[in-house]
Amino acid sequence: FSVNWDAAAAEKGGYGTFMEKEIHDQPKAVEDTLLGRTDASGRLALDELRIDPEELKGISKIIVLACGTSAYAGMVAKYAIEHWVRVPVEVELSHEFRYRDPIIDDSTLIVSLSQSGETMDTLMAVRYAKEQGARTLAICNTNGSTIPRESDAVLYTHAGPEIAVASTKAFLAQITASYLLGLYMAQLRGKLFQGEIEDILADLHKIPAKIQEVLDGGEQIRELAREMAQAPSVLFLGRHVGYPVAMEGALKLKEIAYIHAEGFAAGELKHGPIALIDEGQPVFVVVPSPRGRDSLHAKVVSNIQEVRARGAKTITVAETGDADVVDYSETVFYVPETQPLLMPLLTTVPLQIFACALAAEKGYDVDQPRNLAKSVTVE
Ligand code: G6P
Repeated sequence: FSVNWDAAAAEKGGYGTFMEKEIHDQPKAVEDTLLGRTDASGRLALDELRIDPEELKGISKIIVLACGTSAYAGMVAKYAIEHWVRVPVEVELSHEFRYRDPIIDDSTLIVSLSQSGETMDTLMAVRYAKEQGARTLAICNTNGSTIPRESDAVLYTHAGPEIAVASTKAFLAQITASYLLGLYMAQLRGKLFQGEIEDILADLHKIPAKIQEVLDGGEQIRELAREMAQAPSVLFLGRHVGYPVAMEGALKLKEIAYIHAEGFAAGELKHGPIALIDEGQPVFVVVPSPRGRDSLHAKVVSNIQEVRARGAKTITVAETGDADVVDYSETVFYVPETQPLLMPLLTTVPLQIFACALAAEKGYDVDQPRNLAKSVTVE
């Protein structure tokens, strides 16, 4: 599968901005990234990886390297890969990794995540890891770009060209590809039964229609964004895979709406961030599935109560049917249910729509925010 994306040929598809179009492209971005990854017997077959399956079996540690939004996809990858493959996964910002004398050997697999494949910090980190003897695998959205060319293996995301500076569909495609990599490694190493892998893949294939449902309910989110356009700061809380989603929600607001925003791990609230809460402070909470493990759901619901009791305006993103959040939320955005580990593919979407609508309400150039570049090719 090989496509040459011609940026100039990409249209806004009837939307006012590329970012809106790309948010609406997401069902297809996920679907296309899943396409053609299994053989006739339903087993994952990532032939394009160009890496000897025996080598992947021998990997003792994975280090995920990325910057910006891609690094948050990397955090989601860690939760999924460690859970499925039982191999330790570290996630690090590329620019920090290189300068800390990391422990790498030939059983270390470096997984770089980059939409453009040209981010200089990530490229330099991959080169450094290679010099130290690591195997390198790129998850990338741009065919033939530098990072995949210099890596031992590549797994392309098929999100199509992403024009808006703030990443949306590439993020969901990176998360999807990370799941595929995790499931493939679990298959190779016999860590999941074939039936379990097929169940997860079946749920992944249902995600595009579920993203579409979230998009169809977008007006409720846009309305809230218009009401909140004057908010001086917005906080985001999440836990487990909802934590990187919270960080990404905050990043989107900073990038395009120029609003001070922070994402926190909900468990950290009592160690500092709760001091920020006063009357009217907007707090988004990405709520774990009530069907998830270790009563995380109950813990996050009590976090919502805590901030609400201190005057916060609470906006929750929760699984359809989750009644526990209603009493403590000013607004609830429901997303369809899926496996707890797959939830970021759905819970991210309302936060993207929110940031995009808020920036548009403020009259900002959504596609070309000030001071930012789509691809940062300097260190
Ligand atoms: C820039 C872009 C971000 C992107 C980051 C990493 O900062 O503005 O949207 O997430 O680079 O880019 P990459 O192409 O490596 O994913």
